[in-house]
Amino acid sequence: MILDSPRGIHVAIIMDGNGRWATAKGQLRTAGHIAGARTVKKIVEAAPDCGIGTLTLYAFSADNWRRPSREVGLLMRLFRRYLVSEVARCVTNGVRMRIIGRRDRIPAELLRAIVNAEQATRAGRTLDLRIAVDYSARDAIIRAAQAIDPVALSDPASARAEFAKVLAYVDHGIGESKDVDLLIRTGGEQRLSDFLLWECAYAELYFTRRMWPEFGPVDLSEAVQEFRSRERRFGTVPQAAAG
Ligand code: IPE
Ligand code: IPE
Ligand code: MG
Repeated sequence: MILDSPRGIHVAIIMDGNGRWATAKGQLRTAGHIAGARTVKKIVEAAPDCGIGTLTLYAFSADNWRRPSREVGLLMRLFRRYLVSEVARCVTNGVRMRIIGRRDRIPAELLRAIVNAEQATRAGRTLDLRIAVDYSARDAIIRAAQAIDPVALSDPASARAEFAKVLAYVDHGIGESKDVDLLIRTGGEQRLSDFLLWECAYAELYFTRRMWPEFGPVDLSEAVQEFRSRERRFGTVPQAAAG
């Protein structure tokens, strides 16, 4: 049996469906993003009680730069507002915040808020919150492949762990390997959209039609319960058939 790490499971969420949720209500897509930011606060607060030790949220993909500049601009402002307004609560609740992804294309004001939020929350031990902004799993894998010393890969027994460390490092994960236990995608699509491809090698996948603005703590708890009912085999045979 694979036990949860003492810090709890790693859940990653593709927060999808903001635009469709708003459009269905006759509102602008931007209203969906504003509502989506409120959902983030609720889910972060509920995560520790669900046994989650690490929560990685997909907020903005490298391909999302292709959206209309007004939408991109609003999203960047919302991220900044979220970071600035949530820092104090994160410190109180022991949430360590980290932003993963590229940083060289992020607006300067947002970058300052990122650095400040990471610095202010670095002592948090209850929840490791990672928010993916300008993130592409394939780009991260390429950058790790370019950065790694081939000597680190020469021992097959440790090559994967060494690569995972560099992968986390190139994306500002500060060298910690974070395999995903449960990947949730809201909004009804059933695809990964270039999110954590390496880290999800054995993740349990959970897709829900619920749009991100209407996803709540009860939905999160249901997803984790479903995860706990699954048998993870990691390539071996079912427990009952062993021995
Ligand atoms: C997810 O919602 C948020 C981001 C990608 C930033 P979408 O904006 O993709 O919403 P839909 O998928 O168009 O409904
Ligand atoms: C994935 O959603 C990225 C985020 C949720 C941040 P998209 O809405 O951009 O993905 P596709 O285009 O439907 O694959
Ligand atoms: Mg979408």
